[in-house]
Amino acid sequence: MDSLNITNGDIILEFIYLLAALLFVVGLKLLSSPESARRGNMWAGAGMIMAMIATMVLHRDGVGNTIKGGNLVIILGAIALGGVIGGVIARKIKMTAMPQLVSFFNATGGAASALVALIEFSNPDNQSILVTLLGLVIGSIAFSGSMIAYGKLNGNIKDIFSKWMTYINLLILAGVVLIVVLLLTSGMPAESKQILVYVLLAVSLVYGVSFVMPIGGADMPVVISLLNSFTGIAAAMAGFIYQNQAMILGGIFVGAAGTILTLLMCKAMNRSLINVIIGSFGGGGTAADREKGIVKEVSATDAAVMLNYSKKVVIVPGYGLAVAQAQHICSEMDELLEANGVEVKYAIHPVAGRMPGHMNVLLAEADVPYEKLVEMDEINPDMPKTDVVVVIGANDVVNPAALDDPSSPIYGMPIIMVHEAKNVIIMKRGMGKGYAAIENYLFYADNTRMLFGHAKDSLQKLVTEIKAL
Ligand code: TAP
Repeated sequence: MDSLNITNGDIILEFIYLLAALLFVVGLKLLSSPESARRGNMWAGAGMIMAMIATMVLHRDGVGNTIKGGNLVIILGAIALGGVIGGVIARKIKMTAMPQLVSFFNATGGAASALVALIEFSNPDNQSILVTLLGLVIGSIAFSGSMIAYGKLNGNIKDIFSKWMTYINLLILAGVVLIVVLLLTSGMPAESKQILVYVLLAVSLVYGVSFVMPIGGADMPVVISLLNSFTGIAAAMAGFIYQNQAMILGGIFVGAAGTILTLLMCKAMNRSLINVIIGSFGGGGTAADREKGIVKEVSATDAAVMLNYSKKVVIVPGYGLAVAQAQHICSEMDELLEANGVEVKYAIHPVAGRMPGHMNVLLAEADVPYEKLVEMDEINPDMPKTDVVVVIGANDVVNPAALDDPSSPIYGMPIIMVHEAKNVIIMKRGMGKGYAAIENYLFYADNTRMLFGHAKDSLQKLVTEIKAL
């Protein structure tokens, strides 16, 4: 654009990009609370639509031409097709399959950025080859890594762990760096560079697979948010290639938000970022076999009495609550207990469920007041003073193996210390394992009672019993 006369159209376009960026910021801000998150999505979406329309109408290429009619038809056709497919999938998807969907959409974002970089690498006008190559590498890793994450969350792909994985990953990374340096510095002919860039694409795709493949079950959330940030960074790189402010800013927002979330997740899971990047953390360990003890069941009638005559009750929601869609009946039980003078709080583990903030969103759906949701670090000191903890469909996030079994794959992950409460009632269908697929000795502890059944049915029975007291 530098070599062209700047027209009013160019100024308007830049102004609209700035406005779109402002809408992204407003959207992000509103996304920080479940109550305003829906509006946040709308505002950010409106910003993106504005930026797209303005680009189609006002953008000019290096010689001053706006987008040709034929190309516009292709662009609009692609938007319509993508919009219909995305709309249908989003409407049909079950809330519990949301994490897989997010991973899949994240993969498509990475793939789009990688394709932009691949095409623009051979464009003679491209002034930013380093950025192009970085966009290609990061976008490809985000694509293949997110597809593996999608398969793992779906249950189609199992962890593959080997102690060599870290070295293999380091070797592949070294290969990526070497190819990038060669492409930037060597005077090889353009055709050879073109071949090498495809090799770079392939090696980056392999790295995405090899770094996500061995990640242990309970550590997947960290990787998912890291892949999210990769997609944002790759989109920002694509924005640099086209000198498109809206793309750069949008990508940076996603990249920065994803990076902050990754760091918070690392802290929450007691892991280091470097371990995540070279992979194979949290995988492979096999928990030690111990004396199991006896499983003690409790009837809904007895559980209702225990709850109703307690002073302090803490509910620990987990993935099973989401699967059972039992949040509304859970909130009804909470209201009944409160009406009978029991103090009820919810303990929220940062990786409970299958996506960041899963439990917050679920409980907000049932209008549970936000003040009743207490973060893990804040509620743990209260556990010894708690009369009854009710664990509803949670497993890994309350597994004491994370504290006392160094051979366990979840060792070191902070948990909600429910085992310290006076009494623990665990609501689940059977003795099934959690996402990390490991035994939970909490189920056999002296102060634990199991209330077996589908969470919704069990909660319904509890509500009926409490009403009858
Ligand atoms: P999980 O460890 O996955 O355990 C869920 C439990 O719910 C299962 O043991 C299952 O036992 C029970 N359950 C399933 N359906 C049920 C139903 N209809 N009624 C009652 N119980 C039911 O859940 P969690 O404690 O929330 O831990 C989350 C795990 O997912 C962690 O390992 C975490 O790292 C991982 N993860 C989290 C994320 C994010 S970002 N949150 C993303 C990916 C992975 P039964 O089969 O015996 O009923």
